[in-house]
Amino acid sequence: MSKPVVSKWNARYAHSGAGIPAPSEVLSRGARWLPEAQAPVVDGVVSQRRALDLACGLGGNAHFLAKAGFIVSAWDISDVVIEQIRGRKLSSIAHTELRDVVAFPPEPNSFNVIVVSRFLDRSLCPHIVNALRPDGILFYQTFVRGLKNKNFMLKSNELLSLFKPLHVLEYHEPEPEQQCDDAPRVDGAPFEASLIARHS
Ligand SMILES: C[S@@+](CC[C@H](N)C(=O)[O-])C[C@H]1O[C@@H](n2cnc3c(N)ncnc32)[C@H](O)[C@@H]1O
Repeated sequence: MSKPVVSKWNARYAHSGAGIPAPSEVLSRGARWLPEAQAPVVDGVVSQRRALDLACGLGGNAHFLAKAGFIVSAWDISDVVIEQIRGRKLSSIAHTELRDVVAFPPEPNSFNVIVVSRFLDRSLCPHIVNALRPDGILFYQTFVRGLKNKNFMLKSNELLSLFKPLHVLEYHEPEPEQQCDDAPRVDGAPFEASLIARHS
């Protein structure tokens, strides 16, 4: 694992408190695209679908998906934040994992839903596509501006090209005039693009 990255995020989460954040805009606004959490019964066996909150931070998305009935995995590189999630009483998140998702991306064909918010590593995108099961849904939201490191910001329409193999259900990107620093906030996320897309 990259020690500077871990230290940076551990320091940020050291004083973050016990509260569970709201889910990201792309998930709360696009929740109607979620599949049923319960898969069809096969041979009398009832099973729940699996969802991943990748680079989960405090796990607002993971919590939302668990409440919706999915078997949820929440992965992050920060041991501080993973311990915070694990320490919550009555958490319904099934699996928390301290995991460098760049070094250890999700396995192929492993999730029905994947949510990524405010995290970008372009090398991971083909793995995310492959990790979706048939008809699996990707919810992705991250910055187009507002960060010091340009590498972590999307270029115009970049989510569409990074996830070209998927079928686009919704795509939002702030208009250029909404991207200036004094622009009013739009949907609470003025500097972020979002994509909801389905695996075929
Ligand atoms: C801006 S935060 C976003 C957290 C959360 N997804 C949200 O929207 O609130 C970025 C997160 O990515 C995690 N992260 C950074 N590099 C990572 C890596 N290589 N593997 C897993 N998590 C990573 C950080 O620890 C941090 O929690």
